[in-house]
Amino acid sequence: MKTFVIGISGVTNGGKTTLAKNLQKHLPNCSVISQDDFFKPESEIETDTNGFLQYDVLEALNMEKMMSTISCWMESSRHSLVSTDSGSTEEIPILIIEGFLLFNYKPLDTLWNRSYFLTIPYEECKRRRSTRVYKPPDVPGYFDGHVWPMYLKHKQEMENITWEIVYLDGTKSEEDLFSQVYEDLIQELAKQKCLQVTT
Ligand SMILES: Nc1ncnc2c1ncn2[C@@H]1O[C@H](COP(=O)(O)OP(=O)(O)OP(=O)(O)O)[C@@H](O)[C@H]1O
Ligand SMILES: [Mg+2]
Repeated sequence: MKTFVIGISGVTNGGKTTLAKNLQKHLPNCSVISQDDFFKPESEIETDTNGFLQYDVLEALNMEKMMSTISCWMESSRHSLVSTDSGSTEEIPILIIEGFLLFNYKPLDTLWNRSYFLTIPYEECKRRRSTRVYKPPDVPGYFDGHVWPMYLKHKQEMENITWEIVYLDGTKSEEDLFSQVYEDLIQELAKQKCLQVTT
């Protein structure tokens, strides 16, 4: 195994992007791909009978484009490894993929070396979301009429997942979340190093 791919998923405003950026600052040779960069244009987003734009579903995302961005990263990482002739864990190219709908998308299933899922309670989620301005902005009733029900649906679908997911309490401080995940990753990377030595 020549790369290490980390998935950070979870509820909207759970702190996915914040955690990914904090990790990237401290992990060597680490790139981040954000699922939010792959939303289709508003003109291609479906609307339900209540007039709510259906953004919180896989169909709203250009997942083929995201997959090809990931493939490009894999390809260039392989080249960089060949050129530096590196076999040590410190230099393993690390990719963090962060987004709200990662573990429900089958083509990604075999990619993860470590998976995290941030949760926060309904009230805190609604409060944090109300402080943000999205493009397009949330309309009144959008959180309860679309965002939260879709989150519950996707979380329920995740019950069928066969690999380990580390659930994170998103109400912890930014620093505590960073430390928890960083320490866990150091252990996981060390395990991978063992695998490389013994295989
Ligand atoms: N551990 C934390 N404790 C309190 N607030 C936090 C924490 N992490 C992030 N936040 C705040 O919550 C909001 C959402 O953070 P962030 O953008 O990282 O979440 P996200 O899960 O990526 O959200 P989105 O659904 O928009 O992608 C921001 O205002 C951020 O400052
Ligand atoms: Mg985000």
